[in-house]
Amino acid sequence: MVLTETTQQPTGSHFLKEITDSPNQSLLPLTAKINAQDHLEIGGCDVTELVKEFGSPLYIMDESSIRTACRQYRDGLKNNYSGESLVIYASKALNCLAICALVASEGLGIDVASGGELYTALQAGVNPKTIYFHGNNKSRAELEEAIAADCTIVADNWLELQTLAELATSKSPRVMLRITPGIECHTHEYIRTGHLDSKFGFDPNQVAEVLDFLVKTPALDFVGVHAHIGSQIFERQPHQDLGGVLVKWLKTAQELGLPARELNVGGGLGIRYTEADDPPSISEWTATVAKAVDAACSEAQVSPPKLICEPGRSLVGTTGVTAYTVGARKQVPEIRTYIAVDGGMSDNARPITYESVYRSVLANKMSQSTSETVTVAGKHCESGDVVIKEAELPETSAGDTLVVMSTGAYGYSMASNYNRLLRPAMVLVHEGEADVIINRETYQDLISQDNLPSRLNTIDS
Ligand code: LLP
Repeated sequence: MVLTETTQQPTGSHFLKEITDSPNQSLLPLTAKINAQDHLEIGGCDVTELVKEFGSPLYIMDESSIRTACRQYRDGLKNNYSGESLVIYASKALNCLAICALVASEGLGIDVASGGELYTALQAGVNPKTIYFHGNNKSRAELEEAIAADCTIVADNWLELQTLAELATSKSPRVMLRITPGIECHTHEYIRTGHLDSKFGFDPNQVAEVLDFLVKTPALDFVGVHAHIGSQIFERQPHQDLGGVLVKWLKTAQELGLPARELNVGGGLGIRYTEADDPPSISEWTATVAKAVDAACSEAQVSPPKLICEPGRSLVGTTGVTAYTVGARKQVPEIRTYIAVDGGMSDNARPITYESVYRSVLANKMSQSTSETVTVAGKHCESGDVVIKEAELPETSAGDTLVVMSTGAYGYSMASNYNRLLRPAMVLVHEGEADVIINRETYQDLISQDNLPSRLNTIDS
């Protein structure tokens, strides 16, 4: 992607110019505009008005960008692969009723990684036949819930397989195997999963033994193989290689007489958090994966299995932003200027967890040139609670609406109540309408799970 000269001086209008037609490559949602008031507009809604109406901080998700990303994934596999295909949304990126229902309405299935995510997807009306249950330590209760729901269980270890065999009395659960492929990719150590030293999946050395177990356990309906090599990946080679590795395991299973017919390459396509990030587009990535699996199948003389991929970040990451209200300013002479916002590590844990870097704009001063470099601090009792270390902004004053971009994935889903901050509301915007899809928490919500033993209750005394 060619970056314009204004990259050094990112103003609001600069970020708008960078929008491409692949949501994962754009810093702002595809519908972002500057309106006549010089305010940022997303999905036809003025962001400063949204904050006035729904409060701050506010997560804002753009429906049309999510739909575009879903369609690009779906069509990308369909148009480049010779067999059947299915895209499933890795809902850990953002799991709530509305988003599950929205992606399902685009024909996607859902990847869930806990009983809670499964419950939400089912309550959203998602067809259980398109739900895949992941996780490296599913409890017996979660496995029972998954079997009762009729979703596919991606078995991660021996304990799960043995428990599933015990539970497979009246039904034959659909089971896939997660295998660690031993493929390295260049991403943050915490979000790398495909290398051999990983807590996820069966080690490749165990595959023969596991397949033998499955042959002897026909009560389990073994449907195929899965691997996920990591997240925020910009290279295409690792997934290309993965296609070949998975096809080999699928072939081995078929030669043993197992009815393996699905192949899942996981998720992992990266997004743009800053101008330096240059991920392939969704269309390029899906074409690469589809062609690699097709090629590996012809070489191995295997008929093309159902090809599944399970993106999370690239479906919702850049389709969402967080709007904060600017508060206090502190100038440390010759060192830095802090501006504080009304949220922080409780609504976005990524900077403190992975040192993730974000870009921001002032939604009420979109065309103003940048004139200061400030540190955007959160409001938590923690020095490391910094949203953006170096933000280039126009002159910023208390009351401005600061929008941090690319926060749709792993923002709300990793949110906490640290310092008993209320988790923000989330709105879904579309053609000038805004629906609250997650309510802002209340103080009452904060104490709703607390119990006060009577011997400590001094309230009435
Ligand atoms: N499938 C499996 C089995 C996964 O574990 C993940 C992500 C995905 C799919 C989706 O990956 P994606 O397309 O979103 O890259 N909290 C971290 C990301 C952790 C990813 C965990 N697994 C972050 O904020 O960067």
